[in-house]
Amino acid sequence: MYHSKITGLGFYVPDNIVTNDDLSKKIDTTDEWIQERTGIQRRRHIIRGEDTTTSMGVKAAEIAIERSGLAKEDIDFVIFATLSPDYYFPGPGVLVQRDLGLKTVGALDVRNQCSGFVYAVSIADQYIKTGMYKNILVIGSEVHSTGLDMTTRGRGVSVIFGDGAGAAVLSREEDLTKGILSTHLHSEGQHAEELIVKAPGMGQRWVTDIIADNNPEDESYYPYMNGQFVFKNAVVRFSEVINEGLQANNLQVSDIDMLIPHQANLRISQFIQQKFQLSDDQVYNNIMDYGNTTAASIPIALTEAWEKGKIKEGDTVVLAAFGSGFTWGSVIIKW
Ligand code: COA
Repeated sequence: MYHSKITGLGFYVPDNIVTNDDLSKKIDTTDEWIQERTGIQRRRHIIRGEDTTTSMGVKAAEIAIERSGLAKEDIDFVIFATLSPDYYFPGPGVLVQRDLGLKTVGALDVRNQCSGFVYAVSIADQYIKTGMYKNILVIGSEVHSTGLDMTTRGRGVSVIFGDGAGAAVLSREEDLTKGILSTHLHSEGQHAEELIVKAPGMGQRWVTDIIADNNPEDESYYPYMNGQFVFKNAVVRFSEVINEGLQANNLQVSDIDMLIPHQANLRISQFIQQKFQLSDDQVYNNIMDYGNTTAASIPIALTEAWEKGKIKEGDTVVLAAFGSGFTWGSVIIKW
């Protein structure tokens, strides 16, 4: 039995910065409305032809692998979390294997939206614990900008999401007091339709129906979100799953050195911070700069916090996520 630890981190965001004022030129919205409700000031959008979910994930992964001190040949497995794959199938995991020139290692795609990175880390942790793999590349990457309803109709959702990618290398750790101490995953599919993109799917609306309808007013391709319902569930589930992780390891809230919450909404993070009575130094937020990048948000925030020296050896780091599904989860790490 082993532990796994994060040995390399990296992130990549496109150069194209889109401010709230930029959005207000296309959509009936204001910088004031967006900042007041979400805390977001700007986000990144890819430039057509320059980046994709896979290419951003590859760029983040190259940085993470280099920082881990490993060679590409040392990577035993790839896990890619995204809700915005380049292709409907195959998923981006195999494209990373190709584009990074990895050995013909296994490549797994995870579809758990905002909780995707936490789910992916949990899977990687299990493979490393059992000794099956030694070094696993975990990526969270999203392109939202090409799939949003950039009209006033879609304004409740479209101002929130941004593009970007983050990656981590998880490696075997023999000291069982270090690395990932536990992971905790949950779902409640009863609320699947409260935050959803319905098409293209093979369920109620067949692709053949969509093509036959050829309806420009078809909203099933756009994200739908019952914002207030999502908000209310998020604050409850974030709290529960952080407590669950702490309790499983006999830790107290005061033991948390750094909480990296999924960057859903600054108001959600602030609510959690207040509830747990954490200081500004104990919670890392960067939604102001990148918006909600779903599966990429935790690895981007984790990398930034680490780059800024906010995470040190021996720290107790907590990752926590909530999102579409609903799904939620946490990871407790002794850095
Ligand atoms: N700009 C200006 N006005 C907007 C707007 C925008 N971008 N989006 C919605 N509005 C308007 C609505 O049309 C509505 O107008 P009305 O009162 O005249 O009908 C009003 O603002 C309030 O809309 P509502 O949807 O009730 O706002 P809200 O206070 O719930 O805030 C969210 C919306 C999305 C910011 C908020 O619900 C939220 O953050 N939810 C959680 C989202 C989240 O975390 N998602 C990711 C989970 S992983």
